[in-house]
Amino acid sequence: MPTILEEYIAKHQGSAQRYAEASQLFPSGVTHDNRYAEPFPLYMTHGLGPRKWDVDANEYIDYVSGHGALLLGHSHPAIAAAVAYQIAWGTHLGACTDEEIRWAKAIKALMPGVEKIRFHSSGTEATLMAMRLARAYTGKNKIIKLRNHFHGWHDYAMAGSDRPAPGIPQSSWGSMVVAPAGDLGAVEKVLSNDQDIAGIILEPTGAHYGQLPLPLPSYLAGLRDLTSQHGAVLIFDEVVTGFRASAGGAQVRYGVTPDLSTLAKIVAGGLPGGAVAGKAEIVDMIAHRGDPAWDNQRRVYHPGTFNGNPLSAIAGAVCLELIASQPLNQRADNMALRLKNGLNGIFARMEVAGHAHGIASMIHIVLADCDCDREICTMSHDQIHHAVASPAVTALKRGLQNQGVDIMGREAFLVSATHTEREIDQTLAAFEAALAAVRAEGLL
Ligand SMILES: Cc1ncc(COP(=O)(O)O)c(C=O)c1O
Repeated sequence: MPTILEEYIAKHQGSAQRYAEASQLFPSGVTHDNRYAEPFPLYMTHGLGPRKWDVDANEYIDYVSGHGALLLGHSHPAIAAAVAYQIAWGTHLGACTDEEIRWAKAIKALMPGVEKIRFHSSGTEATLMAMRLARAYTGKNKIIKLRNHFHGWHDYAMAGSDRPAPGIPQSSWGSMVVAPAGDLGAVEKVLSNDQDIAGIILEPTGAHYGQLPLPLPSYLAGLRDLTSQHGAVLIFDEVVTGFRASAGGAQVRYGVTPDLSTLAKIVAGGLPGGAVAGKAEIVDMIAHRGDPAWDNQRRVYHPGTFNGNPLSAIAGAVCLELIASQPLNQRADNMALRLKNGLNGIFARMEVAGHAHGIASMIHIVLADCDCDREICTMSHDQIHHAVASPAVTALKRGLQNQGVDIMGREAFLVSATHTEREIDQTLAAFEAALAAVRAEGLL
């Protein structure tokens, strides 16, 4: 019987060959840190709905979902048709377009708290701009971020992260205050003691789209009150949760309206794109007023070659209009619930210490027991971190790939509206087989 690793190598020879070539071209052979994998990552050729295929013709049920960008699965026919049409009409007209107006209206229809929008090319750009707008609007310098919360890779976003950060001047972190996640008292203390706080940014369902959950909804409501009292800008980073935690994101799911939201991934229908959206008076820090004192000194400058480009705009608009008009979130959430219940059943049946938790279509597994309600895990963040770092988790991910299931990172399933009971049940059978293989290797 081959080991999990031996089977992985044998099944993926085409990927191994490509990785040898890619290693001469890219640092660690990859173009995104999360795609780095030992002994080599997998190379995919195409996807359709909930499935995708690799260069060795292996088929996968996909839970990476385009790093979270695909709520409607791969190559949704309506999005594919709209993008194909637009390519023939021009990918960049160097001008304003109807498509950007349609895109913005589709966002506003789903997120009632949004008054104005500015488009970007990625989530990283959106969080950078949201922090800048908060600083410009309040005239203050510092932003609070929560420990382990991820907002992309620009200098400010990296403050307090669990990643290495050479190349980032310490001085950029002087304007960031890192607070423990989930502790309202800690945020209140910073806001009361430091008069230079412009705002706070957080992932509203917890770090890594809920892997390390927050006490919800009370924490969000508490932050809303605190920031209003202290005149600080509340920024929800809804890059992943936007249009996934609910059709209107975490803000609609929990009924707490932030001052600004950062959006990317689903917002652009599977193409590159991002946005800062929220209160008009804050987003309008970018607006020209025809007053030289304002325009030349106080206005926030914002160019960007691909802002609102017609391809991303049409893909985003079609995607969001479908989300608004069909029960797509409900479909994805129902399948995620079936998956979560099934995973918890397998852990119990096989007597393996582990559980699955999560909300909407974002499911996380932890190889440790917990008596939480399976929506919002109550384990300490250190315990979850520790459990996810185990070699058993690496083996499980590889074992799942051997079985034709590709998960997001080391522990997450992002379910789309195209996953059906067939995919979920096939995934559960694969999970049981992979878990058995991990146990056979003595890792559990
Ligand atoms: C919550 C969150 N914010 C920001 C980003 C950065 O977005 P992008 O990768 O589009 O720059 C990500 C990316 O995964 C994210 O998960």
